[in-house]
Order: sequence, then structure tokens, then C-alpha cells
Amino acid sequence: MKISSVKLVYFSPTGTTKKVLEGIAGGIGIEDIDHMDMTRQDARSKPLDHLTDALVVIGAPVYAGRLPGDVVKRFKHFKAQNTPAVVVVVYGNREYEDALLELSDLSRDLGFVPVSGGAFIGEHSYATADLPIANGRPDEKDLEKAAAFGAGVIKKMTGIKKGEDITPLKVPGNFPYKQAMPSVSGSPITLADLCTTCGTCAEVCPKAAITVNDTVETDPDLCIKCCACVKECPTAARIMDIPRFKDVAKWLNENCSHRKEPEVFI
Ligand SMILES: Cc1cc2nc3c(=O)[nH]c(=O)nc-3n(C[C@H](O)[C@H](O)[C@H](O)COP(=O)(O)O)c2cc1C
Repeated sequence: MKISSVKLVYFSPTGTTKKVLEGIAGGIGIEDIDHMDMTRQDARSKPLDHLTDALVVIGAPVYAGRLPGDVVKRFKHFKAQNTPAVVVVVYGNREYEDALLELSDLSRDLGFVPVSGGAFIGEHSYATADLPIANGRPDEKDLEKAAAFGAGVIKKMTGIKKGEDITPLKVPGNFPYKQAMPSVSGSPITLADLCTTCGTCAEVCPKAAITVNDTVETDPDLCIKCCACVKECPTAARIMDIPRFKDVAKWLNENCSHRKEPEVFI
């Protein structure tokens, strides 16, 4: 099959999924790359049925072994017409459980034909310098693997004559999927003495849950605990202070420090 353009479609609050997708695109080696960043609250999904000769790479982080609820909501208006897709999940070195299967199934429901899949590792959203969990990932080695994966995918695509010849993608995971994480009210807090009210937290929040005037206000029911505001704050004024999440970070640091490697299904 002829592929002349690549579209990267992703939800990536702390940027690791985006980085992995860019690494994969590098390996695919086609110059015409278009980004459809679905991270912001005002991002709109569009029908993608006009795409010809395109390969779509769809990426999402893993939240509690599943796709974040917002991925399902934001991606649901994509309407593809048998466009080949590469499905990719990025997780924080614990497990990806049913997330890759869920993304593969979702892509099929939207009209894509999933051709290949991958599970990569990204720095955990709850990692800090004191409690590292996959800090700095995806690193150089991960991005080399992402590029090699991209090269493998394009080789596979050029070997396929027509869409019907694509063998159905099989990825790990169980259906029914594991139960989704119940939503918990709460959010990171702002340390007033460090905060300059620069507004970065509000800009990067994928839920538009933060308002900055003289102080920073966060809607605890809208917050999805993605930690984009914590990671992006230029003065380290945002911290995740919810006891339950601090305990999770401690547990992950103690139990999920052994380096996992990306898995790909070409
Ligand atoms: C609410 C929430 C739940 C998460 N659940 C998992 C999980 O089940 N397994 C895991 O390994 N990482 C988990 N993570 C970590 C993210 O999957 C990981 O940090 C990912 O790289 C974030 O992607 P992004 O940088 O594109 O936002 C979770 C993160 C958040 C915020």
C-alpha cells in the first residue's frame, strides 16, 4: 500500500506519548507529518474519511490499565474509512493491562484498520525527583526502539497490496476490560509563596480546570490528576498533595522501579 503522509493523533498531558509518536514517525521516514493534538479541552475531533494514502498513528497514555475517559470522548468523532492505523499506548513502568486492546478496538470502531501496535514507557505522571518512576523516559534507547518500530511498520505497509490483505492486529489485553478507575475529587495544590501567577498551569491543563487571577483556583471535580500543571510549572509551585496519590507514588517507586522495555506488535 502506498503511504504518502502520516498523521499523529494523540492525547498527551505530560508530553511522553507525543514524544514516542514523534520517534515512531521519524522511523516511518515520510516527510509529510501532520499533528492532531487532542490534549486541550478545546481540541475538536473531525471526520478523517478524506484521508488517502495516509497512515494514522494514534497514541494515548495508560490510566489505571485503561484509556483515559477523555480519550474515548475526544476521539469518538473521528470517522475513518478503512485508513490504516498504528495504535500506541504509553505507560509509567507499572503495567498497560487492557489499554492497548481498548485502543485497538476503539480505532476499529472509528473506521480505522489497526495494522500494528506498541506499548512504550514514559515517565510516570506521579514521579518526582524524590520518588523517581521511569524518570526521563522515553529516553534515547526508547526513541531508537520507536524509530525501529516505525521502520518496521512502513516496511509491512509497502508489502501489503490492498487493505483486505491486512491481518487483524492481535495485542495483549482482556475483554471485558478491567474496571475503570473511579473518579476522585481533588487536585494538585499551588504553593502561594512560589507561584508567580504566570498562567502556565491553566494553559497546559487538558480539562480547563484551572483559573488564574490573583490566585490559582482549580476545580477539583474537573481535574483528572494528569499532573501536567505539576510538571510544567516553571517555579515548582504546583504539587500533588493528595495523600492517596502520594501513597501511590511511594508504592510505585518501591515496586515499579525495575526498567520495563517497549513491546511492539508488527
Ligand atoms: C490517573 C493516572 C493513572 C495512571 N495509571 C497508570 C497505569 O495503570 N500504569 C502505568 O504504568 N502508568 C500509569 N500512569 C502513568 C502514565 O501512563 C504515564 O506517566 C504516561 O507516560 C503519561 O503520558 P503523557 O505524558 O502522554 O501524559 C497513570 C497516570 C495517571 C495520571
